Amino acid sequence: MTTNTAKKVISLFAAITILTLISVTTANAQTVPAEDPYLGIIPAPASVKKVAGAFIFSAQTPIKADWPADKAVVFLKNYLKDSRHFNNKIAKHNPKVKVSAGLVLTSYGADKLPAEGYKLTITPKKITIVGKGAGLFYGIQTLIQLMPVQLSAREKLPCVTIEDAPRFGYRGMMLDVSRHFFTVPQVKQVIALLAAYKLNTFHWHLVDGQGWRIQIKKYPKLTEVGGYRQQTMYGNNRDWPDSLSYGGFYTQDDIRDVVKFAADRFINVIPEIEMPAHSDAALRAYPELRCQPDDPKNPSRSISGIYCPTEETFTFLENVLTEVMELFPSKYIHVGGDEANKQPWKESAFVQNLMKEKGLKDEKEVQSYFIQRMEKFINGKGRTMIGWDEILEGGLAPNAIVMSWQGEEGGIAAARQHHNVIMTPQTTGNYFDHYQSGSPQEPVSFGRYAVLKETYEYDPVSKQLTPDEQKYVMGTQGNLWTEYVPTMAKLQYQILPRLFALAEVAWTKPENKNYDNFADVRLANHFGRLEAMDYNYRVPTPFAVIDTILFGNKFTYTPQSVVPGAKIYYTLNGRDPLDTDLQYVSPVTIIIPANEKREFKARVITPSGRRSIATRVLMYNRPLIPATVYANGKPGLKYKLVKGRFTSPDQLDYVTLTDSATTDKLNAEVLKKDNPYFGIVYDGYIDIPEDGSYNFSQASYTDTQLFIDGEKLTETEYVLPLAKGLHKIKVKYIYQAPVQTPGSRVRQTPLHIYMIEPGEAAKGEIEAGSLFY
Ligand code: ACM
Repeated sequence: MTTNTAKKVISLFAAITILTLISVTTANAQTVPAEDPYLGIIPAPASVKKVAGAFIFSAQTPIKADWPADKAVVFLKNYLKDSRHFNNKIAKHNPKVKVSAGLVLTSYGADKLPAEGYKLTITPKKITIVGKGAGLFYGIQTLIQLMPVQLSAREKLPCVTIEDAPRFGYRGMMLDVSRHFFTVPQVKQVIALLAAYKLNTFHWHLVDGQGWRIQIKKYPKLTEVGGYRQQTMYGNNRDWPDSLSYGGFYTQDDIRDVVKFAADRFINVIPEIEMPAHSDAALRAYPELRCQPDDPKNPSRSISGIYCPTEETFTFLENVLTEVMELFPSKYIHVGGDEANKQPWKESAFVQNLMKEKGLKDEKEVQSYFIQRMEKFINGKGRTMIGWDEILEGGLAPNAIVMSWQGEEGGIAAARQHHNVIMTPQTTGNYFDHYQSGSPQEPVSFGRYAVLKETYEYDPVSKQLTPDEQKYVMGTQGNLWTEYVPTMAKLQYQILPRLFALAEVAWTKPENKNYDNFADVRLANHFGRLEAMDYNYRVPTPFAVIDTILFGNKFTYTPQSVVPGAKIYYTLNGRDPLDTDLQYVSPVTIIIPANEKREFKARVITPSGRRSIATRVLMYNRPLIPATVYANGKPGLKYKLVKGRFTSPDQLDYVTLTDSATTDKLNAEVLKKDNPYFGIVYDGYIDIPEDGSYNFSQASYTDTQLFIDGEKLTETEYVLPLAKGLHKIKVKYIYQAPVQTPGSRVRQTPLHIYMIEPGEAAKGEIEAGSLFY
């Protein structure tokens, strides 16, 4: 078959990369930051007025509180004793008697403060925190952040007046304990961290296909059977599934213990009981709640675990939720509702009949019927239902809150319907299971990557909403799904420091946010605290750009780390640096002889021994590759195709490519319809718009080879200095249709070649007009 209508994407990625790194490598010296207007506090407070002087806190500092038994005050007392070795007594404060020295915690004057607000004043003699309930607690958290990381008998606190209150009333983080189970002390550690950063909601994803984690007394098999799976790893093509039992669950006493621990820190715990899908664990325990029996010969059917919308199911779920609501005082109850594969409903006579009976026109309306019934039950108990944004499909339940995760669209649509929304899009850095950079050195994680800055820069209030609609945005949260989070160390790595950025998004008004101050200055205080607590975290790399290639003959490097006491090591021999390599002390200048290459690799190692991933700059002293003189090019590319099974694009050099045609773009998708396997070679010229370094990458280097002017681009050498004009381009690509056997690893990557032009700032598709033959 030949065609000249093939269409395919060459996406032109825009690129900040090269320019940013050039400035990093040549410009800055390791500077001591200018005085920090926020005194290292995260999230940045609404107003900070620093004055000269300091308060010295010691074991002799008198402390007075309106209510010494108030939970915020008790928290401070315990913190001083357990974390700082101060056993100060806390006496009762009488607002009518003026206190001239010491620390005063009072609600006197708090009525004038915004919700959850506080005022903290430090003078050389006296510290006053004015606040009530959560406000007082947050004032205490700010005070704690002002205490030095290092313990001493006399701790110096800067004199300052801080007035502060949150931007959003809902500030959350979700933890999935189904894919991997975390114990009560581990869950408490996460909650304590949320509280320290002024988040007020812990969304506990207690139920999913991989495990039911909450004891329900009426249905003991939920945890006896559903709490365990015969597989320690979450299977995908990187982790080989075993057949060992894995699991765990929380007793109802455990749940009460966690809920109290959270409430003592002004954190509301929202339980999530997934329905109608993500319910395999429950359905393993109670298979009678399925529409059809499980089909062991068809495992893909087994993962579509969805309840059948029978009266038996509704009774079961109402009984479950009754016990759940007895354990969780939360006003909000989350019922999931996401990613329901409705095939079992399509194949069920019961469901098809139900649709006729209830006048439901499709399975989405069945889901809406399901969720609306549950909402009625939840509302009847005086609670409000939350669901993931799929609950919009088929009609939103009347009082539901929508948690927007697929993107911002669900939240926007719900706000326009005057429903409250919580913004936690997977597209804006709120998914903490995503990688933290594009480097292959990152530990195995999920899907795309979301760098710290992306999390930080997100604004939950979409500009697409009118001021009236914006009022429905309750706030934001980060989500940690735990398919690839089997340990506490990995959990900490995934959320830190992105949790700090989330806290600032949720708390701080946009006009007070400043990424550079956050990342380059204030994080130092918090990394110092994490080091002291021996928490894991992702150590920022010594350059913002992780891997790149630069052309030139002289380079100067000034790598930096915001982590207090961290050291930077580097190599010039291509190895990833260790603490036995060269230690960075002052700017490193490297001269590259003509037509030679060098590599500069660097990494940060912190005082506790934690390492950043290594950054790599390949420096190449070579001139621009001149353009080809080729006058009469016609738009498009030539290509040759051969129908055969190939395992490497190299093999295409040894066969005769039979079919030959032209195409306007690089695209093999059209050919796949008629060819279950083939190899193809494209040939022609690409028009380079200006002199510069062009960065090429491919979706899969095993399927595809790209040559520019005869040079093969690889995973480690993917940039070329190209002069303006036409350059030869050749692409070899092989394809085999996926074979549908479980566990098979098949080659099915579409042909993708990306190119970054110098100075580009947005992703775009190459115009068909830049290819010639
Ligand atoms: C989700 O991430 N499936 C809510």
